[in-house]
Amino acid sequence: MKVMVIGNGAREHTLAWKIRQSPRVREIFAAPGNAGTAGLARNLDVAATDLEALAAAAVEHKIDLTVVGPEAPLAAGIVDLFQERRLRVFGPTRAAAQIEASKVFSKNIMQKYRVPCAQGEVFSSYARAVDYVHSRPAPMVIKADGLAAGKGVTVAATREQALEALSDAMEKKTLGEAGRRVIVEECLEGREVSLLAFTDGQTVSPMVPACDYKRVFDHDQGPNTGGMGGYSPPGFFSQAMFEEAVRTVLQPTVRGLAAEGMPYRGVLYAGLMITGDGLKVLEFNARFGDPETQVMLPRLRTDLVDIMLSVIDDRLGQMKIEWSEDPCVGVVLASGGYPGKYQTGLPITGLDRLEEGVMVFHAGTALKGGIVTSGGRVLTVAAIGRSIAEARSKIYASIPSIQFEGCHYRKDIAAREAA
Ligand code: AMP
Ligand code: GLY
Repeated sequence: MKVMVIGNGAREHTLAWKIRQSPRVREIFAAPGNAGTAGLARNLDVAATDLEALAAAAVEHKIDLTVVGPEAPLAAGIVDLFQERRLRVFGPTRAAAQIEASKVFSKNIMQKYRVPCAQGEVFSSYARAVDYVHSRPAPMVIKADGLAAGKGVTVAATREQALEALSDAMEKKTLGEAGRRVIVEECLEGREVSLLAFTDGQTVSPMVPACDYKRVFDHDQGPNTGGMGGYSPPGFFSQAMFEEAVRTVLQPTVRGLAAEGMPYRGVLYAGLMITGDGLKVLEFNARFGDPETQVMLPRLRTDLVDIMLSVIDDRLGQMKIEWSEDPCVGVVLASGGYPGKYQTGLPITGLDRLEEGVMVFHAGTALKGGIVTSGGRVLTVAAIGRSIAEARSKIYASIPSIQFEGCHYRKDIAAREAA
C-alpha cells in the first residue's frame, strides 16, 4: 500500500514511523511533513489545509490510505471530500469532527447523552454572557466555541479575568469567528488524563491512557504551550477509572453521534478530569493527541494500518488490539523563547548520538543543508522502559547530546510518576 500522512508535527512523524512498521506498506508520503518524516516518507509540498491539493496528490501518487493528523483539515471536511472522490481516508467526517471543532456542539451532545462534564451555559450575546459571569462565583472557565489553536480556553481565577476573556472573544473578536459563541462553565479540579479510542462508529476500542504537560516550565509554571512532554500510562488512573471512562464517556458519545446521524470513525480523544465527583470531560478532540501520540504509539503492538482499515470498513469489532505493558515517556525540546517569539533555521546536531532505544520524533524541523529548526516545538525525545524511571533516565541521558541554540525542555516530565 501507499499511505499518505497529513500534517507536520511530531504526532505525524510518529504516525509515519508506526505505519512504516506495517508489512502492508510499500511507500509513505507526508504532506507536508518535516525533516523527520523525510527519513521514512516522501515529503510533498502541500499544506495540511489545502484540501483540493491533498486530494489531487492522493490521486496523482495513487495513495491507498490517507491518515489525517491535525484537526483543521478534519473540521474543513477533508474526509467528506476524499469520500466523494472515492479515496480511502482515516478520520471523522466534518459533521462528526464538530465534537472538537465546536465546543457548543460537543456540550449539546454531552448534555443530551448524559456524558459527565462541567455545568455550563452557551452565549451568543455578549451582554447576556457578562450578566451571567456577574451572577457566578469565581473561578470559572470561558471557552470560545470554535477552533482557536489552543487559545480558546481561559481558566479565570477571578471574575475580572472572566470578563476580560469574554470581551476579547465577543467584543474585540480576537479569535475571529471561533469566539462568536462562548461557553461559561464551572471550573473543575483534579488531575487530567487523556483517553483516546479507535472507533468505527459502533465498536469502541480504547487505547492506553496518557498525560501531557501544557505549561512551558518545570512544576507547571509559565505560559501554556502545545505540550512539553507526556507519558503513558498514568499510575493514578486506575483500572476502575478506565472502565468508568469507557462506559460513561466514550461509549455514550459514540452511540450519541451515531444516533444523531453522524457516525464517528477515527480516533476520539477525551480529555478527562478526575474530580471528587467522578470523571468529567474537559474537551473532546477528533484526532490523535500531540504529544500523547509520541508516548502511546510506541506501546502499540498491533499493526496500525490494519486497525485503521478495520475502522474505515466498520469491522473494528473483529480486531484484537494489543499494547505493551511497558511505559513510555516523551520530552519535548523547544526553541529558545517558545511559546513566545523564537528564531528558526538553527542547525540541530547530535541526532546520531542517541542511547539505545531512544526515539526522536521531529516537529519543527526542516532540511536546509543539514537538519535545522523550523518551529517552536522542535523534537520529542521518547523512550520505552520497564518502568517510568528507566524510560526517563534513558531520555534525560540522551538529551544533552542533541544540540541547537536556545534549546529548552522540562526536566520534570513524569517525575512524579517515577518517584
Ligand atoms: P483546550 O485544549 O484548549 O481545549 O483546553 C483544555 C484545557 O483547559 C484542559 O486541558 C484543562 O486544563 C482546561 N479546562 C478546560 N475546561 C475546564 C474546566 N471546566 N475546569 C478546569 N479546567 C478546564
Ligand atoms: N495534547 C493535547 C492535544 O493534542 O490537543
